[in-house]
Amino acid sequence: MTYHNILISVHNEILTITINRPDKLNALNKKTIEEIGNAVKNAEADSSIAGIIITGAGPKAFVAGADISEFVNYNAKEGKELSAAGHKIFNSIETCEKPVIAAVNGFALGGGCELAMSCHIRVASDNAKFGQPEVNLGVIPGYGGTQRLIHLIGKGKALEYLMTTDMINAQQALEFGLVNHVTTQDQLIPKCEEIIEKIKKKSPNAIAGVIRCVNANFTDGVDGFQAEIDEFGKCFNSGDFKEGTTAFLEKRSAVFNRGKKINQD
Ligand code: COA
Repeated sequence: MTYHNILISVHNEILTITINRPDKLNALNKKTIEEIGNAVKNAEADSSIAGIIITGAGPKAFVAGADISEFVNYNAKEGKELSAAGHKIFNSIETCEKPVIAAVNGFALGGGCELAMSCHIRVASDNAKFGQPEVNLGVIPGYGGTQRLIHLIGKGKALEYLMTTDMINAQQALEFGLVNHVTTQDQLIPKCEEIIEKIKKKSPNAIAGVIRCVNANFTDGVDGFQAEIDEFGKCFNSGDFKEGTTAFLEKRSAVFNRGKKINQD
């Protein structure tokens, strides 16, 4: 597939998506969001890919927000459609059944902060800055920011940062739980790779179950505990369970097969 606004590369079964509009600080126009969505969807379906890293091109920005020049003349209907389309793709990142890590290498503002928050794990370099500056423009976050920021840092802090638009630096982000790790700039991608390398050795079927159960906690009308009971039961029909438990009893490392079709009934 040919992409125009993102670069993709594969190294050790890890797909790295680099948002590549550095002259616009990697601002997300509709085309870029679509391309990210397609790359994630393809990687999820590809048994040769173990996990995904999303980062930004250049030394300054992960993503400095939705592309303001694209929506400046939108009306209410167009604004709502823009938001709905973004939600759909960001939800598909959050529910991707392989680990997705945001490697936040600079400004993660507006849609950039929202993109990072839709990933399963966030690692920031020490120059990263997070923020939701939308109210400066007369809009509110439209790609999940009012919801996911609460999930990660709590209601009180979320309201403060959404209303003041103050930026959160990498160290604060670590203290707030907005990011999992802070690294130097040159250690950012290696740290993300190290995390995926660990996950890669685990049961892909069980990893997908963990992602579904954690997301169930944040899904209206879904009982996360019941989701866990159901997912736990399904594991017992899987080849991964047979391999994992047999390997333990045989005192050897389990070898899981990502390509294998698993009976989920
Ligand atoms: N949408 C469109 N273009 C953007 C952008 C965005 N969200 N963020 C940055 N850019 C563009 C700038 O317009 C500029 O383009 P130009 O060189 O053609 O004029 C280029 O990226 C570089 O940005 P600049 O503002 O010159 O860099 P800076 O270092 O002075 O400031 C920021 C960096 C991130 C503080 C500043 O770019 C900014 O505030 N961006 C908007 C953040 C925002 O409100 N995001 C939420 C959008 S809903």
